[in-house]
Amino acid sequence: MSGKTPRCVITFGTYDLFHIGHLRILERAAALGNRLVVGVSTDALNYSKKSKYPVFPEADRAAIVGALKVVDEVFLEESLELKGEYIKKYKADLLVMGEDWAGKFDTYRELCDVHYFPRTPGISTTEIKEVLSQAAGGGSGA
Ligand code: CTP
Repeated sequence: MSGKTPRCVITFGTYDLFHIGHLRILERAAALGNRLVVGVSTDALNYSKKSKYPVFPEADRAAIVGALKVVDEVFLEESLELKGEYIKKYKADLLVMGEDWAGKFDTYRELCDVHYFPRTPGISTTEIKEVLSQAAGGGSGA
């Protein structure tokens, strides 16, 4: 230990078709503390919000995220409304989100610090699906 105060960082996402933007935000989140906990959204949560399921099932997405050396613990995020409960359960000191969510989680500042990171430009799961769909000669795969 460096003598610094232990700091638990928590973040959330779907992490479908895991890509470099996912890796970069998890690396940056991990660098802000000494323990990184990641909530991977369930298939049912995705379906309830977008009326479609991720390409990879929740167990696979959680296994990929959990295998990263910067990630200490993974759990399945069952509801967007439970973030406060997850912050308390995992005793998080800092909530990290991508700036696509900027301002949306400021309410949790009463529980922990909140930080929004810029997204890695030029990549998203939605774009990957569109590229694959076009390469296959199909319509929208998003
Ligand atoms: N993220 C990022 N840079 C990107 C894409 C994602 O920093 N280019 C971050 C998001 O801000 C989020 C986390 O990675 O904090 C998980 O992203 P996810 O919820 O899986 O979304 P996307 O990869 O953007 O997928 P989609 O196109 O389906 O929204």
